Amino acid sequence: QEAELQARFDALIEADQRIEPRDWMPDAYRKTLIRQISQHAHSEIIGMQPEGNWISRAPSLKRKAILMAKVQDEAGHGLYLYSAAQTLGISRDEMTEQLITSRARYSSIFNYPTPTWADMGAIGWLVDGAAICNQVPLCRASYGPYGRAMVRICKEESFHQRQGFEILLELSQGTPEQHAMAQESVDRWYWPALMMFGPPDDESPNSAQSMAWKIKRFSNDELRQRFVGMLVPQAEVLGLTLPDPNLRWNEERQAWDMSEIDWTEFNEVLAGRGPANAQRIQHRRDAHEEGAWVREAAAAYAEKQAARERV
Ligand code: 3HC
Repeated sequence: QEAELQARFDALIEADQRIEPRDWMPDAYRKTLIRQISQHAHSEIIGMQPEGNWISRAPSLKRKAILMAKVQDEAGHGLYLYSAAQTLGISRDEMTEQLITSRARYSSIFNYPTPTWADMGAIGWLVDGAAICNQVPLCRASYGPYGRAMVRICKEESFHQRQGFEILLELSQGTPEQHAMAQESVDRWYWPALMMFGPPDDESPNSAQSMAWKIKRFSNDELRQRFVGMLVPQAEVLGLTLPDPNLRWNEERQAWDMSEIDWTEFNEVLAGRGPANAQRIQHRRDAHEEGAWVREAAAAYAEKQAARERV
């Protein structure tokens, strides 16, 4: 019986078909999806903080409105992804508990501070740009709810990337101080953005299995290369430089030669010792506590409704 179910699952994956919540799936497939989708959802929610920091200080009403819309989009992406994870049997409360007790991973990139307005441009251009590179292939992930969630999210991400590019272009073409502020921000965000794609392929324990199950369609290094290839011409249009003196196209390798990424920094951030890890979790914990009354009120209201229907 089990062997037959496994064979049917393998055939679906082989035929590039979707696995849906009610289909039989190997426990390990379920587990790695809960791992990746919940971490993805946590990343969206924590990702609201670095940008939220500038909503009250945006330089114009237009920029304020755009930034507010973007942060609201991230919240929606998070809720969408939590719902996708819940179809695999984990509850929203469990995932929230894992996050606020620092037992859950979320993208390293959100553990960096945002000291200047230019960071809103660099985050849109680099962080959302990297997220697009990583998320477009995920639209074809073998697990139905995840792939479908990605289609909707990718549409909004391209707006996020465009508005970041536009902020940097305006600053870069502004006063010398504004140009310097844009360049300083790109210098700070470039390497952490490359780390978003994960460790090098030969140090990526989940990649082989994720690719066999067609969750991950391209390796960490492949997507990182693709991302750098996208950035080079855009940086030229922006009139900004990428902070890697060794970056050059290698004709015979058909790939970008680049300086070594500082994986010590990456591992430090993953171990919770990044510049803003504690602050991000504390803020999320505070929001959870301050929002307890809303959850209680909603639960009480739902209970009253249910009681009314029972009479
Ligand atoms: N930050 C934190 N942890 C990371 C990481 C990063 N940048 N890169 C890798 N890791 C972790 C992995 O989670 C894994 O740990 P785990 O086994 O405990 O989960 C370990 O490092 C080894 O990495 P692997 O390459 O083996 O892990 P994966 O195969 O899962 O690949 C990944 C990592 C490419 C991030 C993959 O999980 C993925 O594609 N996730 C979905 C995309 C995502 O989470 N993006 C977040 C970007 S931010 C965002 O989306 C918000 C946007 O709106 C700006």
